[in-house]
Amino acid sequence: MITIDLKDKTAVVTGSARGIGKAIAEKLAEAGAKVLINDISEEAAKQTAEEISKKYNVETTYFACDISNEEQANKLIETCKEKWGKVDILVNNAGITKDTLLLRMTKEQWDQVINVNLTGTFLCTRAAFKIMMNQRSGVIINISSIAGENGNVGQANYSASKAGVIGFTKTVAVEGAARGVRCNAIAPGFIQTAMTDAIPDKIKEKMIASIPLKRPGQPEDIANAVLFLASDLSSYITGQVIDVNGGGFRPN
Ligand SMILES: NC(=O)c1ccc[n+]([C@@H]2O[C@H](COP(=O)([O-])OP(=O)(O)OC[C@H]3O[C@@H](n4cnc5c(N)ncnc54)[C@H](O)[C@@H]3O)[C@@H](O)[C@H]2O)c1
Repeated sequence: MITIDLKDKTAVVTGSARGIGKAIAEKLAEAGAKVLINDISEEAAKQTAEEISKKYNVETTYFACDISNEEQANKLIETCKEKWGKVDILVNNAGITKDTLLLRMTKEQWDQVINVNLTGTFLCTRAAFKIMMNQRSGVIINISSIAGENGNVGQANYSASKAGVIGFTKTVAVEGAARGVRCNAIAPGFIQTAMTDAIPDKIKEKMIASIPLKRPGQPEDIANAVLFLASDLSSYITGQVIDVNGGGFRPN
Protein backbone atom coordinates (compact mmCIF):
# COMPACT_ATOMS: atom_id res chain seq x y z
CA MET A 1 0.00 0.00 0.00
CA ILE A 2 1.34 3.46 -0.87
CA THR A 3 0.75 6.13 1.75
CA ILE A 4 1.92 9.72 1.83
CA ASP A 5 3.39 10.45 5.23
CA LEU A 6 4.18 14.09 6.05
CA LYS A 7 4.42 13.47 9.79
CA ASP A 8 7.73 15.27 10.35
CA LYS A 9 6.94 18.10 7.94
CA THR A 10 5.85 21.68 8.58
CA ALA A 11 3.70 23.65 6.14
CA VAL A 12 2.59 27.26 5.66
CA VAL A 13 -0.53 27.77 3.54
CA THR A 14 -1.47 31.36 2.71
CA GLY A 15 -5.12 32.39 2.48
CA SER A 16 -6.15 29.11 4.09
CA ALA A 17 -9.08 30.10 6.29
CA ARG A 18 -11.52 29.02 3.59
CA GLY A 19 -11.90 27.71 0.02
CA ILE A 20 -9.02 26.01 -1.80
CA GLY A 21 -6.47 27.05 0.85
CA LYS A 22 -8.49 25.41 3.62
CA ALA A 23 -8.81 22.20 1.60
CA ILE A 24 -5.02 22.22 1.04
CA ALA A 25 -4.34 22.78 4.76
CA GLU A 26 -6.71 19.92 5.62
CA LYS A 27 -5.09 17.55 3.15
CA LEU A 28 -1.57 18.27 4.44
CA ALA A 29 -2.80 17.85 8.03
CA GLU A 30 -4.50 14.58 7.11
CA ALA A 31 -1.09 13.37 5.86
CA GLY A 32 0.37 14.31 9.27
CA ALA A 33 2.03 17.70 8.63
CA LYS A 34 2.02 20.52 11.15
CA VAL A 35 0.19 23.37 9.42
CA LEU A 36 0.34 27.13 9.85
CA ILE A 37 -2.90 28.73 8.72
CA ASN A 38 -2.56 32.23 7.31
CA ASP A 39 -5.33 34.58 6.30
CA ILE A 40 -6.08 38.27 6.29
CA SER A 41 -9.00 37.54 8.61
CA GLU A 42 -7.70 36.71 12.10
CA GLU A 43 -10.94 35.26 13.44
CA ALA A 44 -11.35 32.95 10.43
CA ALA A 45 -7.69 31.83 10.55
CA LYS A 46 -7.94 30.99 14.25
CA GLN A 47 -11.17 29.06 13.76
CA THR A 48 -9.78 27.03 10.82
CA ALA A 49 -6.56 26.24 12.70
CA GLU A 50 -8.54 24.93 15.68
CA GLU A 51 -10.94 22.97 13.49
CA ILE A 52 -8.15 21.23 11.53
CA SER A 53 -6.13 20.46 14.64
CA LYS A 54 -9.11 18.72 16.26
CA LYS A 55 -10.21 16.91 13.10
CA TYR A 56 -6.79 15.41 12.22
CA ASN A 57 -5.14 15.38 15.63
CA VAL A 58 -2.13 17.40 14.43
CA GLU A 59 -0.46 20.57 15.66
CA THR A 60 -1.63 23.73 13.88
CA THR A 61 -1.14 27.41 14.47
CA TYR A 62 -2.25 30.60 12.76
CA PHE A 63 -0.81 33.95 11.76
CA ALA A 64 -3.16 36.55 10.36
CA CYS A 65 -1.62 39.08 7.98
CA ASP A 66 -1.73 40.64 4.55
CA ILE A 67 0.83 38.67 2.52
CA SER A 68 1.44 41.66 0.24
CA ASN A 69 3.01 43.53 3.16
CA GLU A 70 6.76 42.82 3.21
CA GLU A 71 7.25 42.98 6.96
CA GLN A 72 4.18 40.82 7.66
CA ALA A 73 5.11 38.23 5.03
CA ASN A 74 8.55 37.90 6.64
CA LYS A 75 6.94 37.50 10.09
CA LEU A 76 4.58 34.85 8.75
CA ILE A 77 7.42 32.62 7.61
CA GLU A 78 9.52 33.38 10.73
CA THR A 79 6.58 32.26 12.89
CA CYS A 80 6.72 28.77 11.35
CA LYS A 81 10.51 28.57 11.79
CA GLU A 82 10.37 29.83 15.38
CA LYS A 83 7.55 27.50 16.39
CA TRP A 84 8.61 24.31 14.65
CA GLY A 85 12.30 24.88 13.79
CA LYS A 86 11.96 24.60 9.99
CA VAL A 87 9.81 25.34 6.95
CA ASP A 88 9.35 22.29 4.72
CA ILE A 89 6.35 23.26 2.60
CA LEU A 90 5.04 26.65 1.47
CA VAL A 91 1.80 26.88 -0.49
CA ASN A 92 1.21 30.34 -1.96
CA ASN A 93 -2.56 30.18 -2.28
CA ALA A 94 -3.92 33.58 -1.18
CA GLY A 95 -5.39 35.43 -4.12
CA ILE A 96 -8.02 37.99 -5.04
CA THR A 97 -9.94 39.16 -8.11
CA LYS A 98 -11.04 42.68 -9.09
CA ASP A 99 -12.70 41.88 -12.41
CA THR A 100 -13.67 44.46 -14.99
CA LEU A 101 -13.03 45.09 -18.68
CA LEU A 102 -9.64 46.54 -19.52
CA LEU A 103 -11.03 49.92 -20.63
CA ARG A 104 -12.73 50.33 -17.24
CA MET A 105 -9.89 48.94 -15.13
CA THR A 106 -8.46 51.46 -12.70
CA LYS A 107 -4.81 51.50 -11.70
CA GLU A 108 -5.96 50.74 -8.17
CA GLN A 109 -7.72 47.54 -9.33
CA TRP A 110 -4.60 46.56 -11.26
CA ASP A 111 -2.27 47.25 -8.32
CA GLN A 112 -4.42 45.46 -5.72
CA VAL A 113 -4.49 42.21 -7.69
CA ILE A 114 -0.81 42.29 -8.68
CA ASN A 115 0.18 43.14 -5.09
CA VAL A 116 -1.61 40.20 -3.49
CA ASN A 117 -1.34 37.51 -6.18
CA LEU A 118 2.14 38.17 -7.52
CA THR A 119 4.04 40.36 -5.04
CA GLY A 120 2.60 38.41 -2.07
CA THR A 121 3.79 35.17 -3.66
CA PHE A 122 7.25 36.70 -4.19
CA LEU A 123 7.51 37.97 -0.60
CA CYS A 124 6.46 34.72 1.10
CA THR A 125 8.62 32.66 -1.24
CA ARG A 126 11.70 34.82 -0.70
CA ALA A 127 11.34 34.54 3.09
CA ALA A 128 10.87 30.75 2.96
CA PHE A 129 13.52 30.26 0.26
CA LYS A 130 16.26 31.61 2.54
CA ILE A 131 15.38 29.03 5.18
CA MET A 132 14.92 26.19 2.67
CA MET A 133 18.24 26.90 0.92
CA ASN A 134 19.99 26.65 4.31
CA GLN A 135 18.07 23.47 5.13
CA ARG A 136 18.97 22.10 1.69
CA SER A 137 15.38 20.96 1.29
CA GLY A 138 11.93 22.43 0.79
CA VAL A 139 8.91 22.48 -1.46
CA ILE A 140 7.12 25.55 -2.77
CA ILE A 141 3.76 25.26 -4.52
CA ASN A 142 2.22 28.31 -6.15
CA ILE A 143 -1.47 28.48 -7.04
CA SER A 144 -1.72 30.05 -10.48
CA SER A 145 -4.84 29.81 -12.70
CA ILE A 146 -6.08 28.75 -16.12
CA ALA A 147 -6.63 32.51 -16.62
CA GLY A 148 -2.86 32.98 -16.45
CA GLU A 149 -2.43 30.52 -19.32
CA ASN A 150 -5.41 31.41 -21.57
CA GLY A 151 -6.38 34.94 -20.55
CA ASN A 152 -10.00 35.70 -19.65
CA VAL A 153 -12.37 38.56 -20.46
CA GLY A 154 -12.53 40.99 -17.53
CA GLN A 155 -9.40 39.62 -15.89
CA ALA A 156 -6.44 41.52 -17.37
CA ASN A 157 -5.06 42.18 -13.89
CA TYR A 158 -5.73 38.66 -12.60
CA SER A 159 -4.43 36.90 -15.74
CA ALA A 160 -1.25 38.99 -15.67
CA SER A 161 -0.70 38.19 -11.99
CA LYS A 162 -1.22 34.45 -12.53
CA ALA A 163 0.97 34.35 -15.67
CA GLY A 164 3.59 36.16 -13.58
CA VAL A 165 3.33 33.41 -10.96
CA ILE A 166 4.17 30.82 -13.64
CA GLY A 167 7.33 32.67 -14.76
CA PHE A 168 8.28 33.21 -11.14
CA THR A 169 7.82 29.48 -10.38
CA LYS A 170 10.17 28.46 -13.18
CA THR A 171 12.93 30.79 -11.95
CA VAL A 172 12.60 29.72 -8.30
CA ALA A 173 12.83 26.11 -9.50
CA VAL A 174 16.14 26.62 -11.30
CA GLU A 175 17.61 28.74 -8.50
CA GLY A 176 16.60 26.20 -5.84
CA ALA A 177 17.43 22.97 -7.67
CA ALA A 178 21.09 22.68 -6.62
CA ARG A 179 20.05 22.80 -2.95
CA GLY A 180 17.12 20.40 -3.17
CA VAL A 181 14.42 23.07 -3.13
CA ARG A 182 11.60 22.32 -5.57
CA CYS A 183 9.02 24.80 -6.85
CA ASN A 184 5.95 24.00 -8.95
CA ALA A 185 2.67 25.69 -9.83
CA ILE A 186 -0.87 24.42 -10.09
CA ALA A 187 -3.26 26.07 -12.53
CA PRO A 188 -6.82 25.38 -11.39
CA GLY A 189 -9.73 25.74 -13.79
CA PHE A 190 -13.22 26.48 -12.47
CA ILE A 191 -13.33 25.47 -8.80
CA GLN A 192 -16.43 25.83 -6.63
CA THR A 193 -15.56 28.36 -3.88
CA ALA A 194 -16.69 31.77 -2.59
CA MET A 195 -14.51 33.33 -5.33
CA THR A 196 -16.49 31.65 -8.14
CA ASP A 197 -19.84 31.91 -6.30
CA ALA A 198 -19.56 35.63 -7.08
CA ILE A 199 -19.80 34.94 -10.87
CA PRO A 200 -23.34 35.50 -12.28
CA ASP A 201 -25.28 32.19 -12.75
CA LYS A 202 -25.61 32.53 -16.54
CA ILE A 203 -21.86 32.91 -17.04
CA LYS A 204 -21.20 30.06 -14.59
CA GLU A 205 -23.49 27.71 -16.56
CA LYS A 206 -21.69 28.59 -19.79
CA MET A 207 -18.29 27.98 -18.19
CA ILE A 208 -19.31 24.60 -16.77
CA ALA A 209 -20.83 23.51 -20.11
CA SER A 210 -17.47 24.18 -21.79
CA ILE A 211 -15.49 21.97 -19.35
CA PRO A 212 -14.84 18.55 -20.96
CA LEU A 213 -15.54 16.73 -17.66
CA LYS A 214 -18.80 18.74 -17.39
CA ARG A 215 -18.51 19.70 -13.75
CA PRO A 216 -16.79 22.38 -11.71
CA GLY A 217 -13.76 21.25 -9.74
CA GLN A 218 -13.87 20.99 -5.95
CA PRO A 219 -11.24 22.49 -3.60
CA GLU A 220 -10.18 18.92 -2.78
CA ASP A 221 -9.20 18.35 -6.44
CA ILE A 222 -6.55 21.06 -6.02
CA ALA A 223 -5.56 19.81 -2.56
CA ASN A 224 -4.87 16.33 -3.99
CA ALA A 225 -2.44 17.79 -6.53
CA VAL A 226 -0.76 19.85 -3.80
CA LEU A 227 -0.32 16.72 -1.67
CA PHE A 228 1.41 14.98 -4.57
CA LEU A 229 3.71 17.96 -5.23
CA ALA A 230 4.47 18.32 -1.50
CA SER A 231 5.46 14.67 -1.16
CA ASP A 232 8.51 12.71 -2.28
CA LEU A 233 6.36 11.04 -4.95
CA SER A 234 7.14 14.16 -7.02
CA SER A 235 10.83 14.41 -6.08
CA TYR A 236 11.91 14.59 -9.76
CA ILE A 237 9.38 17.28 -10.69
CA THR A 238 10.27 20.97 -10.47
CA GLY A 239 9.51 24.12 -12.46
CA GLN A 240 6.27 22.64 -13.82
CA VAL A 241 2.68 23.79 -14.06
CA ILE A 242 0.08 21.12 -13.30
CA ASP A 243 -3.31 21.88 -14.88
CA VAL A 244 -6.23 20.77 -12.70
CA ASN A 245 -9.14 21.90 -14.80
CA GLY A 246 -11.39 19.07 -15.94
CA GLY A 247 -9.83 19.08 -19.39
CA GLY A 248 -9.48 22.82 -19.87
CA PHE A 249 -12.07 25.27 -21.07
CA ARG A 250 -12.40 28.42 -23.13
CA PRO A 251 -15.59 30.15 -22.04
CA ASN A 252 -15.08 33.24 -24.19
N1 LIG B 1 -11.89 29.25 -7.34
C1 LIG B 1 -11.40 29.10 -8.57
O1 LIG B 1 -12.10 28.72 -9.53
C2 LIG B 1 -9.94 29.36 -8.83
C3 LIG B 1 -9.45 29.11 -10.12
C4 LIG B 1 -8.11 29.34 -10.39
C5 LIG B 1 -7.27 29.80 -9.40
N2 LIG B 1 -7.77 30.05 -8.16
C6 LIG B 1 -6.84 30.55 -7.14
O2 LIG B 1 -6.88 29.72 -5.99
C7 LIG B 1 -6.58 30.50 -4.83
C8 LIG B 1 -7.68 30.31 -3.78
O3 LIG B 1 -8.91 30.74 -4.35
P1 LIG B 1 -10.34 30.49 -3.65
O4 LIG B 1 -11.29 30.25 -4.75
O5 LIG B 1 -10.20 29.52 -2.54
O6 LIG B 1 -10.60 31.97 -3.08
P2 LIG B 1 -11.33 32.45 -1.77
O7 LIG B 1 -11.63 33.89 -1.99
O8 LIG B 1 -12.45 31.54 -1.39
O9 LIG B 1 -10.18 32.32 -0.64
C9 LIG B 1 -9.05 33.11 -0.67
C10 LIG B 1 -8.57 33.33 0.77
O10 LIG B 1 -7.41 34.17 0.71
C11 LIG B 1 -7.53 35.17 1.72
N3 LIG B 1 -6.77 36.36 1.33
C12 LIG B 1 -7.11 37.27 0.38
N4 LIG B 1 -6.19 38.23 0.32
C13 LIG B 1 -5.24 37.94 1.24
C14 LIG B 1 -4.04 38.57 1.64
N5 LIG B 1 -3.65 39.73 1.10
N6 LIG B 1 -3.30 37.99 2.63
C15 LIG B 1 -3.71 36.84 3.20
N7 LIG B 1 -4.84 36.19 2.85
C16 LIG B 1 -5.60 36.74 1.89
C17 LIG B 1 -9.01 35.43 1.82
O11 LIG B 1 -9.36 36.06 3.06
C18 LIG B 1 -9.60 34.03 1.65
O12 LIG B 1 -9.75 33.36 2.88
C19 LIG B 1 -6.42 31.94 -5.32
O13 LIG B 1 -5.05 32.23 -5.55
C20 LIG B 1 -7.17 31.94 -6.63
O14 LIG B 1 -6.72 32.95 -7.50
C21 LIG B 1 -9.08 29.86 -7.84
